[in-house]
Amino acid sequence: MNKNILVIGSINYDLVVYTQRHPIPGETILGDRFQTFPGGKGANQAIAAARLGGHVQMVGKIGFDSFGKELSDNLNKNQVDISNVRKVKAPTGTAHITVDANGQNSIIVVPGANVTLTRQDMDALKETIQRTKLLVLQLEIPLEVVVHAIDIAYASGITILLNPAPATPIPIETLRKVTFLIPNESELALLSGIEINNFSDCRKAISHLQSLGCNQIILTRGEHGAYYFYQDNQIFAPPFDVPVVDTTAAGDAFIGGFVAAMAEDMDLHVALLRASAAGALAVTKAGAQTSLPTITELNDFLTKHKQEAKKN
Ligand code: RIB
Repeated sequence: MNKNILVIGSINYDLVVYTQRHPIPGETILGDRFQTFPGGKGANQAIAAARLGGHVQMVGKIGFDSFGKELSDNLNKNQVDISNVRKVKAPTGTAHITVDANGQNSIIVVPGANVTLTRQDMDALKETIQRTKLLVLQLEIPLEVVVHAIDIAYASGITILLNPAPATPIPIETLRKVTFLIPNESELALLSGIEINNFSDCRKAISHLQSLGCNQIILTRGEHGAYYFYQDNQIFAPPFDVPVVDTTAAGDAFIGGFVAAMAEDMDLHVALLRASAAGALAVTKAGAQTSLPTITELNDFLTKHKQEAKKN
């Protein structure tokens, strides 16, 4: 089977505390419960796309520990090709997550094996990168690896999606090579250097990135929906009204939904609608990979909501 989506990124074991509120520095509070979930932005996006019909290959590193085994088993179980998920002598990446009563999270990632990915690994995967239709990247692996993978893909005209999370400064010459840049508001603020307090600030930040030569930008605004910007075009994907249990991996579900639709050459409006619905469904369940919708769940949800992305 032709794997037309290649995800290069992190694979983390998520250690999650559910609590009424986030503690302030120096404070100890009691949590309600503790759970573990397979996660990592890269692996989440790979599984999100695979569950929505994408043919996905994952590139990443895990340790020889039990966390690593559980994570690679889960990728495999979700039909993600793991032939380029390698084991290394480093602990598997972990994410230490706190989720409050409103479903809002804060996350500390200890990257572990994820940071052992190298530029040389990308050189060794040159043909795999050149053969894919869509390359998907985030920033939980070393930036120089992301930059190099983008250089290889760009030279071959591959469609590149970059989710600049967690927020990290990226060289502008790299951003210019990205086909779809998909930040949230805080990532947009960091990349543009413009403080964001409202949607007007978002527009300024987008215009600034466009003036620097960025291509298509999709801004995800959580409960306020998502916006696509390219030159003078703008498309709004309205949010869905759903009960919020846990926002972890909502952005990953959005990207998985978008990339799965793009892999099937769906219209951009439809791809944004499906991405938005996938993100909405993900917040209704606890955990990262446990919350990512299947294609049946997504289609049923869309039939029920009959909502369409509108062109502004
Ligand atoms: O985007 C959510 C993910 O961020 C979690 O699964 C966690 O592993 C962190 O990487």
